[in-house]
Amino acid sequence: MLAGEDGHATQKAMQILVALGKIYGARRLVRVASVQVSGVSYKNLGDAGLEFLDRLAEDGRARVKTTLNPAGMSLTDWKSQGIGWGFAEKQLKVIDAYRKLGVEISCTCTPYLAGNTPNFGEHIAWGESSAVAYANSAIGARTNREGGPSALAASLTGRTPLYGLHLDENRAPSLVVDVEAELAFPEDFSAMGYFVGKATGDGIPYFRGIQKASLEDLKMLSAALASSGGVAMFHIAGITPESAIDVKGVEALPFTSKDLGETDRLLNDTGTPDLISVGCPHCSLAELDTIARLLEGRRVRREFWVCCSREVKRESDRLGYSSLIERSGAKFALDTCMVVAPVEDLGHKVVATNSAKACHYLRNSGLKVRFMPLEDCVTEATR
Ligand code: F3S
Repeated sequence: MLAGEDGHATQKAMQILVALGKIYGARRLVRVASVQVSGVSYKNLGDAGLEFLDRLAEDGRARVKTTLNPAGMSLTDWKSQGIGWGFAEKQLKVIDAYRKLGVEISCTCTPYLAGNTPNFGEHIAWGESSAVAYANSAIGARTNREGGPSALAASLTGRTPLYGLHLDENRAPSLVVDVEAELAFPEDFSAMGYFVGKATGDGIPYFRGIQKASLEDLKMLSAALASSGGVAMFHIAGITPESAIDVKGVEALPFTSKDLGETDRLLNDTGTPDLISVGCPHCSLAELDTIARLLEGRRVRREFWVCCSREVKRESDRLGYSSLIERSGAKFALDTCMVVAPVEDLGHKVVATNSAKACHYLRNSGLKVRFMPLEDCVTEATR
């Protein structure tokens, strides 16, 4: 591949992987079972990113199952989202390039809810930070936090350098978190993740004192840890599959109800939300069920986005959740989310959401944010 016998794109991809492997001291490459590619929104890629993809798509093809992160708009309903043709045309070209490369146009940050479901111990190369943390921690698969180019390179070669979280010795905790706060909602896991991510940096936190955690709790925790910090893996004693590990001598930090309250306050600006958006990371079916029940018989009076994958939406259609949600005036934001879509260009100024990760990145785009539980998001939208 490095000699160019498999074509230009594969050669380029292998050059990227070999360079990375040298930097991180990898002894060899390892085959990967799947890839999740980030770097899809034209908002982040720009023309340089689009040109890079077009060039690779001339002769490159995915060698393993490869799924795609959210794009900057719904691929079918971008007009009703208020997206102009200037942005849409470029975004559709990006998607076209990925399609040519053989990438599944899944456009979701929860691939593990939409058909890309790794097994325990499997090597993968994923690029969406929340999904990376979820896959390493909740599933026990093995991936570093790949950038857009390195994930795509893994897809085109079917391999990744063997270093970092692919190796047992790098999956040990660096910080113990004694959870004293009561975690009643997934949003509490989100706030805790935001607090702990800052304290951990790119280390591995080990949570003690959590009695139970749902898929949604773990999903929210993964996203928040990976946004305020560079966390790519965590353990929860008695819950995550690699938590039977010795933590003697590891520095410990408490997480109290005061910390929870302060993080909530920190994530709240002032102002009345003009966009309410839930589903960061993209909603699970259980979340859509909850949203449908909360919205049943009510009308939303402000723009309300429910972000999820097409795969989960199809199930929700079948079970009748989607019609309850849409009857209220709420909109599904498929293929995209409030962070990667150019919501600031759509005239929105204050966004309410139940995700600490979304608050973090929306602020970076100059928007004001309100962080609140899912139920309060619905109340806010309907009053
Ligand atoms: Fe997913 Fe967008 Fe949040 S990509 S994790 S919904 S910022």
